[in-house]
Amino acid sequence: MATAVRTDTDVAFQRCLTPSCGSTYDVGEVRTCCGQCGGLLDVAYDWDRLPVPDSLRSFEDKWSRRNEPLCRSGVWRFHELLPFAPPEKVVTIGEGQTMLSPSDGVARYVGLQPGQLFLEYEGLNPSGSFKDNGMTAAFTHAHTIGARRAACASTGNTSASLALYCGVSKLMQAVIFIGSGKISYGKLSQALDYGALTVQIAGDFDDAMQRVQQVSSQLGIYLVNSVNPFRLEGQKTIMYRVLEGLDWEVPDWVVVPGGNLGNSSSFGKAFLELLELGLIDRVPRLAVINAVGANTLHELFEVRGQRWNGGQVDHQATTGYYAEMDESNNRASTIASAIEINRPVNYQKCLRALDVCHGVVREVTDQQILDAKAQVGASGLGCEPASAASVAGAKLLRAEGVIDPSERVVCVLTGHQLKDPTATVAYHTTDQQEFNRVLGSRGVQRAAFANRAVAVPNDLDKIVQAIQLNS
Ligand code: F0G
Repeated sequence: MATAVRTDTDVAFQRCLTPSCGSTYDVGEVRTCCGQCGGLLDVAYDWDRLPVPDSLRSFEDKWSRRNEPLCRSGVWRFHELLPFAPPEKVVTIGEGQTMLSPSDGVARYVGLQPGQLFLEYEGLNPSGSFKDNGMTAAFTHAHTIGARRAACASTGNTSASLALYCGVSKLMQAVIFIGSGKISYGKLSQALDYGALTVQIAGDFDDAMQRVQQVSSQLGIYLVNSVNPFRLEGQKTIMYRVLEGLDWEVPDWVVVPGGNLGNSSSFGKAFLELLELGLIDRVPRLAVINAVGANTLHELFEVRGQRWNGGQVDHQATTGYYAEMDESNNRASTIASAIEINRPVNYQKCLRALDVCHGVVREVTDQQILDAKAQVGASGLGCEPASAASVAGAKLLRAEGVIDPSERVVCVLTGHQLKDPTATVAYHTTDQQEFNRVLGSRGVQRAAFANRAVAVPNDLDKIVQAIQLNS
């Protein structure tokens, strides 16, 4: 695959995240870490030599040009803020046309004043999750450098997204790695339907992630997991759209589920850059929410006190913790399968985001996740379990008094409700056995907000009676 030497004339380049290293690489080089120190990479820009708008409001002009693909895309509308590829190389399928929706029902559940809770609904993306924001960016980079195959390990959404971009564009073959029995049928069905080469590893996501990195480097396959810095460039735009939905006002809090930590990392980078460019004058606080059964970030950040520390991250603390997990055979386990991850690849970057946004990390139980999910569903949008961790986390932070009732809070709903119908139906089911089978072993004891189906004989009078009794 192409490698290229960085020249002084490049306005976009890759740079090692660790400030004391700061090595730079050409934008056309395919890397997932720094060749000098092994740190993660950022896509960096020489903003002084780029046409940056004076105000975020100027992006609104693009709405009037929605017949142009780059203006229609909710990612590439903000091309000036992720200018690593020439417009003619961009591969877009109209991703990012999502909405920021106020929800007073969810605000009440969380404990916020009416009008203060917003749901950023990323389930509206073409593949049904936020992943398309990042995939269009990584895919564009892959296309720019002439890749013919692209791979990822996935808990289901990244693979659905990659498979979709490959299927629509026919530019590359998708090779996806999944853990066996670990992926919801909604997501698996997408990858199979879109024609991806699907490799099911006898292991979990953390195993699949390790293998895909080895295989990609051995076979020269382009890797699109969020360790790829171009992915995160696309995911920055979720926050641009949040700001746009708030008429360019910065909210007090952004709450997001944490799995591989790509989203939280990209949000931190988005706000850091907007601040540096003078396009905002303050940043929101960031809350990253783990599931109790997959809580590495919570453990390292909140319990063991690990911090960004000006880029001097204590990597020994991380490797020590991973060794402890291995010793006690601690594998990730949660009903929120999308975030069932114990070794988040973007941990280092997420620490920076938490630093920039004065962030906090919380863990929520599967019970809290499913109850919050039912509340989101009742509000009309609907999301998959992992997404509801954001709402459960906001509720917890409100109860702790960390979030004030008068503050403006944005919860990111990362994936569509139909991604994982098994969890939803089991929660609402009338069949206690089914509930116990799917959810019982996860420590979910009650379905406080269950909307049970009413069973009736096939008899007109009985059906009418049942409707009158229940309405
Ligand atoms: N929510 C959903 C619906 C996801 O699919 C994921 C990640 C996350 C939250 C966590 O986001 O990794 O940026 O912290 N899913 C990945 C996948 C891992 O393979 O689809 P993150």
